[in-house]
Amino acid sequence: MKKIFLNLLIVFSTTITVFGQTQGNWWKDTFIYQIYPRSFQDSNGDGIGDLKGITSRLDYLKSLGVETIWLSPIFKSPMDDMGYDISNYTMIDPIFGTMADFDEMLAGMKKRNIRLILDLVVNHTSDEHPWFKEARKSKDNPYHDYYIWKSGTKGVPPNNWFSLFGGSAWEWNEATQEYFLHFFSKKQVDLNWQNPKMRDEIYKAMTFWLNKGVSGYRMDVITFISKSPTFENIKFSSNRAEMLNGLNGVVFNGPHIHEYLKEMNDRVLSKYNLYTVGEGAGISLNNIDPFINPENHELQTFYTFDHMYLDKDMMTNKPTKLDLVKFKAALSAWGNKLDTRGLNTIYLGNHDQVRSLSRFGDDKVYRNESGKMLATLLFTQANIPFFLQGDELGMSNTTFKGKEELRDVFAINAYNQAIKRFPVDSVMKSISAITRDQSRTPFQWDNSANAGFSSGQPWLKVNSNYTTVNVKNEKTDPNSIFNFYKKVIKLRKGNPALIQGAFNDIAPEHPEVYAYTRELNSEKCLIILNLTSKNTIFSYKPGKLILSNYTDDKGEALRPYEAKVYKIQ
Ligand code: GLC
Ligand code: CA
Repeated sequence: MKKIFLNLLIVFSTTITVFGQTQGNWWKDTFIYQIYPRSFQDSNGDGIGDLKGITSRLDYLKSLGVETIWLSPIFKSPMDDMGYDISNYTMIDPIFGTMADFDEMLAGMKKRNIRLILDLVVNHTSDEHPWFKEARKSKDNPYHDYYIWKSGTKGVPPNNWFSLFGGSAWEWNEATQEYFLHFFSKKQVDLNWQNPKMRDEIYKAMTFWLNKGVSGYRMDVITFISKSPTFENIKFSSNRAEMLNGLNGVVFNGPHIHEYLKEMNDRVLSKYNLYTVGEGAGISLNNIDPFINPENHELQTFYTFDHMYLDKDMMTNKPTKLDLVKFKAALSAWGNKLDTRGLNTIYLGNHDQVRSLSRFGDDKVYRNESGKMLATLLFTQANIPFFLQGDELGMSNTTFKGKEELRDVFAINAYNQAIKRFPVDSVMKSISAITRDQSRTPFQWDNSANAGFSSGQPWLKVNSNYTTVNVKNEKTDPNSIFNFYKKVIKLRKGNPALIQGAFNDIAPEHPEVYAYTRELNSEKCLIILNLTSKNTIFSYKPGKLILSNYTDDKGEALRPYEAKVYKIQ
């Protein structure tokens, strides 16, 4: 009897382990749908999207096949940087709703088997956070050491560190006769991660949401939480690689970064079955292993910017021509790492970039073809796909005509600088090409007023193409980008080779075509993508066509933005 019981116990505990493992890996075959809450769905006519709005659209997300959502910040905030400036980590901003609205939204997601990832913004808080309001009062205030201070002379910043949103990274504080550090806007004050009390408070806040049933975190500029303790000057360079080198270890990726992430993992993350993705600001792909190596117990995945700086200057954001061979190489670099490092992430856009369709496709003549080609690329690469709300409709850039139409603090600062030297038309042209407002325009539900986003005046202008590009139209059109996303999402889910399969770029030097295979056990897929608006030729041995954005297959003659997936027997 005792033996049977023991055997049973062993069988039972093995089952638990196996079950635990599959559960623990739930994120490996998912993809991430990013909701930018301000712009998704307004429920009360104030022109700003909110949690009740999201709850009312969960069936839409389910119909698309969404299983995991990354929600940009919803916490109390003065909204200087649209919620990336938090003044209370455990309170919902009234603009988005109440805690009851949050609970209802989360329950609605649970019911539909959708998981929720929150945005963790802990490099900085708002200057209106009670901690900072206290901290700035005096040097002996208990909260003073929650932030980073440097004494000096008013008008002479302590070093040449600059804010990513323009100007010096240092701001004078009269009461203490010191400067405080802010790598983003003046209202986003950098926290002092060297302070263990401060770290405790962050861990508490993280735990609060995880205990509510949230499934993980996207970690905002997490590489910035440790900076150089000696505050040495940055060595500037116009060369991107050299510039990154100059910043590395000084303003980000400082000496304690791994210590903090390990502690965070130990104190919080390891206690839950969750998914984490760090925003790898400044870190290039070659340097991310320590952050995501499972043996290091830090984060699970990272997203980097290597492929995002090939068509613009890193410092000025000035557009340059995209070299497709380099672009492919940047993406393939991850695929090639798959064997040693497991899954990472891939994205072509988010709330900080302009719309991917306008950037990497053609939002006019070949809107439909290129939108589908980009979807194919995203879902067949060797990584976890991330995309932004509206990409599934082929939402694209619009034109911003004057400063009054801008809402992005980064774009407004850039405008204020540029207008001192250039005429307004040319300023608005260049700002339109880079403003983050492009990806934040209201979601296009239907062709009624304000695209069905709000019954009031939207906080940011609606793209005028909403009369045709909208959910209502695309749902009923079998040829729509929306229906193609549904297809490609199903395709990836049904083909383990597209998720875990080895990646092989078969024509890295081809200037127009991206061709690669994904292979797992006996299953092999071949993916052929024409990344350009031109006809081109690419010879290959086809298999059984399982997905295409054209109605027929002309073999090696590829049409503009043609995308094909074959199964090879
Ligand atoms: C991240 C966010 C961006 C924000 C910045 C500062 O890059 O994605 O929107 O402005 O961090 O929090
Ligand atoms: Ca609202």
